[in-house]
Amino acid sequence: ALPRTLEGVHVAISAGGTREALDPVRFIGNRSSGKQGYALARVAAQRGARVTLVAGNTADLATPAGVDLVRIGSAVELREAMHEVAADADVVVMAAAVADFRPVSLTGHKIKKTDGDPDPIALTKNPDILVELVAARRPGQLVVGFAAETGDETTSVLDYGRAKLRRKGCDLLVLNAVGDGKAFEQEDNAGWLLSPDGSEIAIPHGPKTQVASAVWDAVTARLTQPQ
Ligand code: PMT
Repeated sequence: ALPRTLEGVHVAISAGGTREALDPVRFIGNRSSGKQGYALARVAAQRGARVTLVAGNTADLATPAGVDLVRIGSAVELREAMHEVAADADVVVMAAAVADFRPVSLTGHKIKKTDGDPDPIALTKNPDILVELVAARRPGQLVVGFAAETGDETTSVLDYGRAKLRRKGCDLLVLNAVGDGKAFEQEDNAGWLLSPDGSEIAIPHGPKTQVASAVWDAVTARLTQPQ
């Protein structure tokens, strides 16, 4: 049997992608399948946690046994759900892929095809839910962020991750390299666990449940540390 290291702990996890509506039938979305977030939920429940899973658009995934599921569509809906759940959670994990922007206006009718050039889509910024959750953190509460990064000629994935950890202010950042068919929609994942104290732990490539186990090990170590 697995050690019940999260007994008595309430964890709130977001998973999947948000959808930002353009009109009644179209949206801006992303490739997140929710598999990593669901794996986090499954492992946490197996370790004895009370789990609330807030899911956006996902692949066809079974809700893990004993997990409370809340469904959301857009980033604004996710924000509302996370604030509500986080108010009662000991650990908050943002594994969802949240759209940074949404269309300025939602057309009530289906946008029609025109003969000329289409109108550009005007976008506005979505709230940064992770930053808000960090600001609203209760005493003793841990907030875990994820980062999906690609490297480029000047900056490595790790450097982008380090900068994101500073910007978001969370207690732990799970950094995933993406692109080239990595992480999104896959059965397996890899990455690093970055902490504000500068510690950086590589998570070896493996099934998403194994990555989830590494995350919960790190969370458990921080929960049992005197704060
Ligand atoms: O769902 P899968 O197919 O299994 O794939 C898993 C995954 C790659 C989606 C997952 O492991 C992952 O990395 N999730 C975060 C994806 C992401 O969009 O990261 P980001 O670097 O854009 O955002 C950084 C953090 O801020 C994330 O915790 C995100 O949830 C949060 N965020 C981002 C934007 C925003 N407006 N609000 C937020 O809270």
